[in-house]
Amino acid sequence: MNGPILIVGGGQGIGAAIAADAGPAAAVWTRSRGVDAGDRAALTAAFARLRAERGVPWALVHTIGDFVETPLLQTGVEQYEALVHSNLTTLFHTLAVVVPALVEQRRGRVVLFAAAGTDRQRAMQRAPWYFALKAAVVQVARSLAGEVAAAGVTVNVISPGLIEHPHSHRDSQARLRPRVPIGRLGTVADIVALVRWLASDASAYVTGENFTVDGGLQL
Ligand SMILES: NC(=O)c1ccc[n+]([C@@H]2O[C@H](COP(=O)([O-])OP(=O)(O)OC[C@H]3O[C@@H](n4cnc5c(N)ncnc54)[C@H](OP(=O)(O)O)[C@@H]3O)[C@@H](O)[C@H]2O)c1
Repeated sequence: MNGPILIVGGGQGIGAAIAADAGPAAAVWTRSRGVDAGDRAALTAAFARLRAERGVPWALVHTIGDFVETPLLQTGVEQYEALVHSNLTTLFHTLAVVVPALVEQRRGRVVLFAAAGTDRQRAMQRAPWYFALKAAVVQVARSLAGEVAAAGVTVNVISPGLIEHPHSHRDSQARLRPRVPIGRLGTVADIVALVRWLASDASAYVTGENFTVDGGLQL
């Protein structure tokens, strides 16, 4: 690791596993740890503290992204706004606060999270607003990758399939598990291995990509 790895949303699930893998290099921001990524002022203050205490991070990983399985026309205003806030607004603020410092130091890695299937040209009837917002995450990543590539900063997306952890969505995972060609649910270790590579020097020539990790579910 070339410096701190900042995991925004790393309190549980995939983010917590990434933080555990990074060990002392990890810095974790969550609401329960006092940093709300939907609050620009709170993020700015947290980033100033991090910079002062540990320097500019080498890598930024954003793992926030609530999931709701509701048909499109049954999605209520509050549910819609919460989904947008969780999946996009927290990302908007995080990128704006953190990425300029990576560009300034002319090196860095950004890893974002979408979901398997978002990149396909097809209906996503299980959770239409969630998948639409995750498609926006992939598009944002590509645009950002182009914007910061010359500064030595790469931006990539991981799109998990059914990843089992204590807070994951058990009902939909149990329902879809028989359709996974590899024959099992994913584990956080399946994701961590890819993050480790994306946050390493070895991935320096890879940017603007979306990596699906779903055991073949989208095949
Ligand atoms: N698990 C899967 O099977 C799966 C499948 C496809 C895609 N994904 C995507 O992969 C990513 C990680 O998923 P996950 O299941 O590991 O997530 P998760 O279990 O829902 O964990 C989300 C984390 O984000 C933090 N968080 C939420 N809102 C926040 C805010 N406003 N500010 C700061 N922290 C906030 C939460 O802590 P606090 O509540 O303390 O803030 C928590 O630590 C998500 O983007 C998800 O959509 C997951």
